[in-house]
Amino acid sequence: MKQLFNIGARRLALATLAASAFGTGAQAATITISCGSVGQDFEFCKKFTSEWARKTGHEVKLFTIPNSTTDILALFRQMFAAKSTDLDIVNVDVVWPGVIKDHLLDLKPYTKGIEKEHFPAIVANNTVDGKLLAMPWFTDAGVLYYRKDLVEKYGAKPPTTWEELATTAKTIQDGERAAGNKDFQGFVFQAKAYEGLSCGAVEWIHSYKGGNVVNDKGEITINNPGAVKALKTAASWIGTIAPQGVLNYAEEEARGVFQNGNAAFMRNWPYAWSLGNGADSKVKDRIGVSALPRGGVDGQNAATLGGWQLAVSKYSKNAEAAASLVLYMTSPEVQKERAIKGSYNPTIVSLYKDKEVLAANPFFGSLFEVFTSAVPRPATATGAKYPEVSSAFWNATHDVLSGKATAEDSLRKLEARLKQVKRNQW
Ligand code: GLC
Repeated sequence: MKQLFNIGARRLALATLAASAFGTGAQAATITISCGSVGQDFEFCKKFTSEWARKTGHEVKLFTIPNSTTDILALFRQMFAAKSTDLDIVNVDVVWPGVIKDHLLDLKPYTKGIEKEHFPAIVANNTVDGKLLAMPWFTDAGVLYYRKDLVEKYGAKPPTTWEELATTAKTIQDGERAAGNKDFQGFVFQAKAYEGLSCGAVEWIHSYKGGNVVNDKGEITINNPGAVKALKTAASWIGTIAPQGVLNYAEEEARGVFQNGNAAFMRNWPYAWSLGNGADSKVKDRIGVSALPRGGVDGQNAATLGGWQLAVSKYSKNAEAAASLVLYMTSPEVQKERAIKGSYNPTIVSLYKDKEVLAANPFFGSLFEVFTSAVPRPATATGAKYPEVSSAFWNATHDVLSGKATAEDSLRKLEARLKQVKRNQW
């Protein structure tokens, strides 16, 4: 009896609180959000969502998701198919708007035009049939991390071509192993069979002027000499400057090796900068960041465009409160703090002139062009079929890297497979 009374009293107190925070009629809502689980994603999510909850009187629940984007998409697609109301806010990879468009709410009625402050290309990417399906949250581009101290110790320079990278990585690897670190690796990157490998392969192929798998007109372009050269080059790293294990590395595995002081070079996204300079990092203050190398002297620099957005599920029962949280999470204040403390690249153009943001992440300034001219994966051209295209592409790449197929054979087969996926149109 006493317990019942207590619960009743607590309800009453909460109801009074909610009434004062929401005025008459409005109710406190519980919003469930998924925010990622790579690096510091979860910690930041907790911090900023609870700030919003404190300010608004709403409640927030965090929803744990896998760390591979490929697995996250599979999970969300299952939930959407079931019209699940379990998730109000979903994080959306830059390559997904065309894939999950039918399940996201148009945010235009809520934004009051604030999206104009963000990179127009990202806003365009998130706009399908005139609907703004997701607010840009952070952008990403592949960069090259290197050990400044070791490059200097071996009298080398940060490499500007993949060929130079291979030579320098081998010199440093041989030297460090001879000096006693048997686990030392020249180069670590993501070569597991998942979306991250598609990102890396787009970079290699583009850098050798081998195009973008499917061009803007929707034509399948992957079977070409530049692409063959790129995949052969990448395959030559496995077991020489990169451990066999990279064939199973995603972002976090590569970061673990580099941050432990066991690699000279690493391909990763900007989030690794802040963690690499964290108090517990063995390479704190010894990291340089540059553009990824060109494919030979005639090649070009290429970084794949990545990044995440926040969107409201169409099946949410609390669309208005969910949209308010999305706007808070993507606001200049939150993007600024995430940039300074977590090296997440803002999507708000003016933050690239912010002194504190640049002081925390000098490469946001020096590599500004890398971020603004990053190469998109062929997601727009292939629309809802992008996941199939990408998985065919990463599998074909993985076969070459693991020595199961030659680059020529694998790309010929991939071309045929993509024709099947396309049939008459994407
Ligand atoms: C990063 C990028 C994302 C990409 C993923 C691949 O999270 O932001 O766009 O798909 O890496 O692993």
